[in-house]
Amino acid sequence: MPERLRVLRTVPAFRRSIMAWRAGHANVALVPTMGALHAGHLALVRAAERRAQRTIVSIFVNPAQFAPEEDLARYPRTFDADVAVLRELGVDLVWAPPVEVMYPPGFSTKVVPSGPALVGLEDRLRPHFFSGVATVVAKLLIQCAPDFAMFGEKDYQQLKVVSRMAADLNLPTRIIAVPTVREKDGLALSSRNAYLSAEERAVASTLYRVLKACAERIANGELIARVIDEGGNAIENAGFMLDYLEARHADSLQPVASLDEGPVRLLVAARLGKTRLIDNLGA
Ligand code: PAJ
Repeated sequence: MPERLRVLRTVPAFRRSIMAWRAGHANVALVPTMGALHAGHLALVRAAERRAQRTIVSIFVNPAQFAPEEDLARYPRTFDADVAVLRELGVDLVWAPPVEVMYPPGFSTKVVPSGPALVGLEDRLRPHFFSGVATVVAKLLIQCAPDFAMFGEKDYQQLKVVSRMAADLNLPTRIIAVPTVREKDGLALSSRNAYLSAEERAVASTLYRVLKACAERIANGELIARVIDEGGNAIENAGFMLDYLEARHADSLQPVASLDEGPVRLLVAARLGKTRLIDNLGA
């Protein structure tokens, strides 16, 4: 009989479970999420299960990474359905701390990343976002010191920020990147896709189509600046408000003018009505 999935909400109970697994020499993988699970999250869970004997999924909608005007209050919450799916997948533990467990009264310590967190992409539009992410991910990794932690390429800048932080703080966890899971038409799966109206959903896949076309043109030797310029116009013509479309070095996230400067990653963020979508692709 497989052990039943446990849902834990206090740090001591969480630590006791992990210590028991460690005593049995099991290795452990963590999948940090904010819930509202979709097939993108589940790809991370499957990747975790392939690497480790024990898999933990954390579900915590982290207030520290939302700005006051952002969607914290209306962020989708589907906890019971999430737990049911994770039980089916054979996950061992759901770590679901209440806000006051993660941020008790008097909480006063922040991780403030630089490097890939300060390259003028998401950080330009959401200045407090990566310190919120880095602080909560540092806490999660310290709470359970997993052997592996899985992050999606969907949030490419976040992946780079977390990898840098784990290395800089000597956290004993290998950060594993998992490729983006997409709908049939190319739209990257995201909890925020649920906000799209039918008309918006119909044009949302433009983002991926433009990224793909730009990546092909750059790989064929066309001038990056021109390809990006035309790609941005195509996105705006489809009805988006463009926040950015940029070609960056795939590791440092610094601007690149040509493929000679290293592997190139295209990153895009754009708004359709009230919904903000991000995506990225290797060139
Ligand atoms: P959340 O948006 O719930 O995403 C959790 C993880 O799932 C992230 O690593 C994200 O990159 C990955 N993911 C989301 N959509 C994906 C897709 N279509 N394909 C592959 N992976 C996908 O990202 C966060 O939560 C938070 O910032 C968090 C890291 C949990 C810190 O609060």
